[in-house]
Amino acid sequence: MVNAAKCYFEMKRRLADVGICENIEARELFRAAVGCYYIDSPEWIDEADSDKLYDFTSQRIDGRPLQYIVGSWSFLDFDLSIGEGVLIPRPDTEIVAETAIEAALKFNAPVVTDLCSGSGCIAIAVKRAVANSSVIAAELSEQAMVYLGKNISALADGVQVVKCDVFDYQQTLEDESVDIIVSNPPYVSADEYARLEKELYYEPKSALTDGADGYSFYRHIISEYKRVLKPHGYIVLEAGDGMSEKICELLCGCGYIEVTVKNDMFGLPRCVSAQKNV
Ligand SMILES: C[S@@+](CC[C@H](N)C(=O)[O-])C[C@H]1O[C@@H](n2cnc3c(N)ncnc32)[C@H](O)[C@@H]1O
Repeated sequence: MVNAAKCYFEMKRRLADVGICENIEARELFRAAVGCYYIDSPEWIDEADSDKLYDFTSQRIDGRPLQYIVGSWSFLDFDLSIGEGVLIPRPDTEIVAETAIEAALKFNAPVVTDLCSGSGCIAIAVKRAVANSSVIAAELSEQAMVYLGKNISALADGVQVVKCDVFDYQQTLEDESVDIIVSNPPYVSADEYARLEKELYYEPKSALTDGADGYSFYRHIISEYKRVLKPHGYIVLEAGDGMSEKICELLCGCGYIEVTVKNDMFGLPRCVSAQKNV
C-alpha cells in the first residue's frame, strides 16, 4: 500500500513544475486513477492505483488532454464519455444547447436536428430538457459515432443517430420538416489550424477545421437547410471566436429574421440564432 497524500502532492508538484494549473487537473486525475476524489480517499491506496496515477500524470505532462485521460467530461448537468476520435465538449457550447432548448420549448413535440453532433452533447441536452422532442444527431465520423451511440444509450435514449455528410444530408430531408436546426460545426480555418496550440492536435482534425476559410459549414447549413426548416423554425449555430458578425450577415442575406447573438459564459459572442421568416 502507498500513502495517498504522498502520491497526491507528488502529482501536484509534477504538474506545477510544467506549468499545468494543478487543482482541477489533480483532482480529476486522482479520481480517474483511484476511483474517488482525494478528499474522500483512504489514507493508503493500492500500489496499482498509485502506478496508474503516476502514468496518468506523465501522459498529462506529455500534453495529452485531461479529458481523454479521464475518459469523460461534464456538459451542463451530465457527464459524457469521450476519448481520442471525438471532440472534447466545451463550456462555450453550453449556451448553444441552452438556446436550442429555449427554441424547442416554443413548439409542441418539436423535431430537432443536431448537425455535426460529435459526442452528442447538444442533442442529448435537448432531448433531456424537452422530453417530447424528436431529436436527430447527424455525424460523419465513425470514431465519433462510437461515443455518440454510447452517450445516447446512457443519457438520452430515443435520440436518433444518422451517419451522414452534412453537405449532402439535406437532400434526404423533406421540405419544412424540422423545427430546430442546431450545429457546432468545424469552424477553424486552414490557416488558423496550422497555428493551434499543440494540445489541440490530439483532437480530430475533421472536428476542428473545414480546411478552408472556416465558414464553409455555416454557408451550407444557412442556405441549404432553410428549405428543410418549418415556417418560424429556428437555426442555432455556435460561432467561432470573432465569427459571429459574418454569420449574422450570412443569415440576414438568406432572409432569416430575429438574428440574435448571445455570449458564452466567458462573455464572448459565441451563439447566433435566427428564425425562418415564413
Ligand atoms: C466542432 S465538432 C462539434 C461536436 C459536438 N457537436 C460538440 O459541440 O462538441 C464538429 C463535428 O462535426 C463532425 N463533422 C465534420 N465534418 C462533417 C461532415 N461533413 N458531416 C457531418 N459531420 C461532420 C466532426 O466529426 C465533429 O464531430
